[in-house]
Amino acid sequence: MSASAPTQTWLIVGATSALARAFADRAAKEGCSLILAARDMDATRVLADELRGRHGVAVSTIFFEAADRASHAALATSLKEAEAPNVLLAFAIMLERQTFEPDPAVAASLLDVNLAASASVLMHLLPVVEARPGARVAIVGSVAGDRGRPRNYVYGASKAGLHAIASGLRARLHKAGVSVTLVKPGPFRSPMTGDRKGLGPLPSPESIAATTWKAAMARRATVYAPWHWRWIMLVVRLLPEPLFKRLDF
Ligand SMILES: NC(=O)c1ccc[n+]([C@@H]2O[C@H](COP(=O)([O-])OP(=O)(O)OC[C@H]3O[C@@H](n4cnc5c(N)ncnc54)[C@H](OP(=O)(O)O)[C@@H]3O)[C@@H](O)[C@H]2O)c1
Repeated sequence: MSASAPTQTWLIVGATSALARAFADRAAKEGCSLILAARDMDATRVLADELRGRHGVAVSTIFFEAADRASHAALATSLKEAEAPNVLLAFAIMLERQTFEPDPAVAASLLDVNLAASASVLMHLLPVVEARPGARVAIVGSVAGDRGRPRNYVYGASKAGLHAIASGLRARLHKAGVSVTLVKPGPFRSPMTGDRKGLGPLPSPESIAATTWKAAMARRATVYAPWHWRWIMLVVRLLPEPLFKRLDF
């Protein structure tokens, strides 16, 4: 008698984000168990109930606050028992320059949440995934990390740092048989882009989650979402500095 395939578990860090909600739905639809990690426990429990009701899979919840390092360590403990552990990192804050330039502490705290906390979470999870060949780690970066723009360059810096972590971690975990997928979305519909004018019609979080899911399953290294951002960012990266510095975007 052949042994049945182990149940895949996804630990979703930042589970209340629009992208994470859509990804969780996709993973649950595929029969995966979920561990939802977020700081708003009421919203997370409601989400867990919905996912259990819709897909009949096991869903647990755990407190995660970027500023609370003890909550990072607890994530590793929660994932240790999983037969086949996987991780999606999908929390962040996005602030524009009018918010952080007058208040340097805000710039520092943005980096604390998006970059320092991500590094800490990933280091806590490293031994857990390294011990499980076949595990997948998916990290949500951003096109904003490809080149700093005047509008949101500290956010861009946090994502550029995360891109470097994803690249190093991918090479670090390769021998262990663990894949690290970096997703770089362009703007999509979510509370993060809620009141920003001039972005035009945006893709849905579901479409970004579908790309994320497919890329993680295929163990892709880096994907843009939607795909055309790959070419847009190639042009943006190649713009000569004398031209780039004249653009106020
Ligand atoms: N939306 C876009 O256009 C866009 C574009 C490129 C990349 N991305 C990236 O995609 C990912 C998901 O974005 P989204 O737009 O779906 O996000 P979102 O809906 O705005 O949600 C942001 C998430 O981050 C969590 N969070 C913020 N500060 C936190 C903290 N201190 N501790 C713990 N959690 C914290 C929020 O928790 P609460 O619900 O408790 O506030 C929420 O779950 C992010 O990495 C974002 O940078 C988004």
